[in-house]
Amino acid sequence: MTAKVVDYTQSQTTITNYSKTRYISSDIMDQEWNSIWQGTWLLAGLTSDLETPGDYFVFSIGTEQILVSKTSKGTIEAFYNVCQHRGNQLVTSRRGNAKSFRCAYHAWTYDHDGNLKSVPSKDRFKLDPHCENLALRKVHCAYWNGLVFINLAEQTETLESYLGPVADLLEAYHFEEMTLVQDQTVHLDCNWKAVVDNFGELYHVDFLHPQHKRMVDCRNDIVRLFKNGHTGVEVPGATVNPRYPVPEHPTDIQSSQLNSLGLNPDDFKGRVLDIRQAVQKQKKLIDTDLGMNYHRFSDDQLSDVWQYNLFPNAILSFTPEHCWILRPRPHPTDPQRCEFDKISLVKFANSTDPNKDILGPGKTSALLNPSDKTNSERKRPETDVFTYDQVINGEKDMTDTINQDVALLGGVQKGMASKGFDKVFLSDDEVRIQHFHDHLDLQLHKDPPHE
Ligand code: FES
Ligand SMILES: [Fe+2]
Repeated sequence: MTAKVVDYTQSQTTITNYSKTRYISSDIMDQEWNSIWQGTWLLAGLTSDLETPGDYFVFSIGTEQILVSKTSKGTIEAFYNVCQHRGNQLVTSRRGNAKSFRCAYHAWTYDHDGNLKSVPSKDRFKLDPHCENLALRKVHCAYWNGLVFINLAEQTETLESYLGPVADLLEAYHFEEMTLVQDQTVHLDCNWKAVVDNFGELYHVDFLHPQHKRMVDCRNDIVRLFKNGHTGVEVPGATVNPRYPVPEHPTDIQSSQLNSLGLNPDDFKGRVLDIRQAVQKQKKLIDTDLGMNYHRFSDDQLSDVWQYNLFPNAILSFTPEHCWILRPRPHPTDPQRCEFDKISLVKFANSTDPNKDILGPGKTSALLNPSDKTNSERKRPETDVFTYDQVINGEKDMTDTINQDVALLGGVQKGMASKGFDKVFLSDDEVRIQHFHDHLDLQLHKDPPHE
């Protein structure tokens, strides 16, 4: 089914059966904590949450919390969120802006660089009345494309080297120019890797997400396999699934794409397979007026949906107009549970001037999201945290596609934990899953970075 696999690793990925143990075992969970979560770059958050000095957010991973802070020098630094007096967790809110970080217990106070600035009754500390060398403990921190990464290892390769060719391939997509519009976290009853696996193949799309046949061609995708366990898939968009007969008229999704670009769906009656190219051409034509920077993108990128999975747990699904950041984080103690974040970003078009008439009289663009507000007028949405059941019973919505995935994952975990199942049995169309697990195994069998 997969049209093309491009392997950047020079080591052929071979499909194997691997045991289900990694999804249910506490021992493996502990090994992962040492080798994966404390040994690789992890996507912690967005630079847009760190615009002015004093801005901070707290990233929770396993049993740790990492405080990420914008310093007065304008740099971004990350620390364990732990007061060096008696170990109280320092910052208790998820994000905000703080003049300094003051511990709630005995008021030890740290600046944005993590330096200890004030200690009540300092002269009573006979061990060292100057309380020196008691700064917050730093962790590696770097950012790329609007995304902040941390690394808990003592020593690490640079983020640039870790990402390798992925960074070059994604160069046109400036996620930092997109605006955060929704921030959700759902508690799932499954191992974090079951979520990564779910976003590691398109094999299930025809069956679990039948609605996708109106918008993407999952038969002619390009799969990319990178060093360090990263993978990518590029799916032709603004088209239909060739597994089914090509419709006479554009589908509802294609029609709304065409309308949003000022094109008439009726002009494509009997020419549904021409729409992808027409969308590419039209985006280039309207580029200057809308400020969408379409000139940066290749023709394929203008119409297609790309999804890149950055090892271990950051899944980016994007077009020039939007990006979903999907991120399963392991539960601190239970291998059969995780927290799954979905962060939605949108690129807003510059112009809303009706006199400009870019798209035709009275036309507004849903696809291009014309902006009615400047970025500074937009309020950052709070993180909405909810349960798996709230998604199942329709109280919470993560979009049809993600709702369908989430609804399924609890059953996958229960099935894998059953005596009736031993090993995962993958097809060639699931090669990205194999590639991810091969790298996971490689990391688990390396010496742990911490003693
Ligand atoms: S534990 Fe933070 S000031 Fe005492
Ligand atoms: Fe899915």
